[in-house]
Amino acid sequence: MTPRKYVIARVPGDGIGPEVVGAASRILDAAGSRWGFSIHWADYPLGAGHYLRTGEVLPEAVLEEMASMDALFLGAVGDPRVRPGILERGILLRIRFHFDQYVNLRPAKSYPGVPLPVKPGNGAGLDTLVVRENTEDFYVGIGGRTQKGMACIDLSTERGLYSIHGRLEGTFTGGVEGAFQLGVASEPGIRRVVAYGCRAAKARGEEKITLASKSNALPQIYGFWEEVARDEAARTGMGLSIVNADAMCYHLVRSPDLYGVVVAPNMFGDIVSDLLAGLAGGLGVAAGADIGDGLSMFEPIHGSAPDIAGTGRANPIASILTGALLLDHLGEKDAAKSVEAAVAAFLGEADRKRLPLEFGGEGTTSSVGDAILGKI
Ligand code: NAD
Ligand code: IPM
Ligand code: MN
Repeated sequence: MTPRKYVIARVPGDGIGPEVVGAASRILDAAGSRWGFSIHWADYPLGAGHYLRTGEVLPEAVLEEMASMDALFLGAVGDPRVRPGILERGILLRIRFHFDQYVNLRPAKSYPGVPLPVKPGNGAGLDTLVVRENTEDFYVGIGGRTQKGMACIDLSTERGLYSIHGRLEGTFTGGVEGAFQLGVASEPGIRRVVAYGCRAAKARGEEKITLASKSNALPQIYGFWEEVARDEAARTGMGLSIVNADAMCYHLVRSPDLYGVVVAPNMFGDIVSDLLAGLAGGLGVAAGADIGDGLSMFEPIHGSAPDIAGTGRANPIASILTGALLLDHLGEKDAAKSVEAAVAAFLGEADRKRLPLEFGGEGTTSSVGDAILGKI
């Protein structure tokens, strides 16, 4: 049998991105040797360095090349030398939107050996799945600032499901300056994410999903979310519980294992998934995937962590577990399981000193990566 071959686009990005992606890539290559496949990495050195040198953020031709590849593996983008939003919107969000990666999967799973800030009531650990909507909400990028109190906001937006046209005009009296940012939700946009969450809950043997909402303060957009979510959950025979996002944060810090599958609009999902990452041990173990019907992207949920970049303090486990999600997506189920098992075996070891610095040990990015590599 000829070995299976995959072409994976790789964007290490900024800060700790290249450090953690480097450690994870070695482990995916090793999993390939063990399970009979190989990965060709197509490297794209995009990010702050490239932008500052060339002024280029993400060329259209790169998106065209990536479209035919099997998946995309990304570290993180964002750099203190570059105005916030240029790289984050220009690379990360552009990829999510361009490939219509409408689900952002963020498992919050704890592993034996990882210290948790709040002991879960079940005495075991955390195993929550955040299913975050990934193309709409306040992320669409529609907005603007006033000039002499007046704003004319272009609504032009292209999405896989639809496009939006038109403009909104508004004036603050007395020339007061201000800014607008619009949230968008569409019926099919909500429905496909809720449907995904319902399927995920069913696969986990659960009978309901929990929606993070906030229709008390934002009834137009989140009242609509609740309406569509109720309909979709009923259609698939899944129970639905609706919790205001603020209360959800409150409940989570007291009972971190309270929820199974959490479905969330884009912005609440961003916030709740960082909270759950902290409750499950830390951003350094929190994996993520941006799933669409075309090219999907795999990226840990943490950012470029400029505060620890270049120090060896970055925990590579989030990226390694993200790699396991990537292998699972490729259909390499045994390899995916073996990568997660290697992480669990490493973390479960008695020797606390070898644990990542993030968990109070002395393990660096490379020592942790090498130890996990040795277990494949
Ligand atoms: P961050 O996730 O980079 O860091 C938050 C905190 O967590 C920091 O103290 C950091 O040191 C720590 N941390 C993160 N990952 C870690 C790891 N693997 N091991 C140990 N500690 C880790 O969030 P931030 O500080 O808000 O953002 C920094 C930059 O990253 C910004 O430019 C931001 O826009 C960008 N960002 C990018 C992405 C992405 O590309 N996916 C995601 C979030 C933030
Ligand atoms: C994430 C990040 C991004 C987001 C930023 C960098 C645009 O925080 O992936 O969680 O808000 O989605
Ligand atoms: Mn985030």
